[in-house]
Amino acid sequence: MKEKAAEKALEFVENGIVLGLGSGSTVRIFIEKLGEFVKKEGLRIEVIPTSYDTEIIAVKNGLRVTSLLEHPEPDLCVDGADQVDPNLNLIKGGGGALTREKIVAEASKKFYVIVDESKIVESLNMPIPVEILPFAYGFVEKRLKELGYNCKLRMSVKKLGPVISDNGNYIADVEVEKIDVGRIERDFRIPGIIEHGVFPSEMVDLVIVGRKDGAEIIRK
Ligand code: 5RP
Repeated sequence: MKEKAAEKALEFVENGIVLGLGSGSTVRIFIEKLGEFVKKEGLRIEVIPTSYDTEIIAVKNGLRVTSLLEHPEPDLCVDGADQVDPNLNLIKGGGGALTREKIVAEASKKFYVIVDESKIVESLNMPIPVEILPFAYGFVEKRLKELGYNCKLRMSVKKLGPVISDNGNYIADVEVEKIDVGRIERDFRIPGIIEHGVFPSEMVDLVIVGRKDGAEIIRK
């Protein structure tokens, strides 16, 4: 189903574009297909990766990597998501790349999301990934607690201690009883929180949902 979504997204890739690339397993499939597509069609495109993981995959698949410094307004950004609600609000950050993902999505002229159907939910209901400056962690945790949120530091596997993001920060997962996008935007404006994983629907242009028998495009 991820493949179906990734294949559909290729239809929006035109010669000469600058393309933001999100992170995660769905995006990995997209990049692999993109590499083949670009080679086969002889396209000249440049990509802006949102994580070291994506950068490595992009280079290994023969894509030309550029940066926001050279191209502050990419033509399109394609990324996955952990959850998508009926209004196309998203939760992202399962892979801890939410900050760069949000920057590139916001910077781009269009933001297209590729997911398999398991990501479609009635309402956003998972802990919200949050990137936090290590210096501020104790204070941020306390402030979130005062606001009624439980903040769990994400711990590494195969390394002691917390997960460190590509930006050198901590990633925490914040439990929220009922997610109200506007309220999260207000409450999470705490010094030391670099970014959070709620991507409001205003950022999203369309969602491509991969299903067993094809892909469905959901527009706002
Ligand atoms: C990484 C993300 C990913 O887009 C999200 O976790 C979905 O990943 P996958 O395609 O592996 O399910 O936000 O920070």
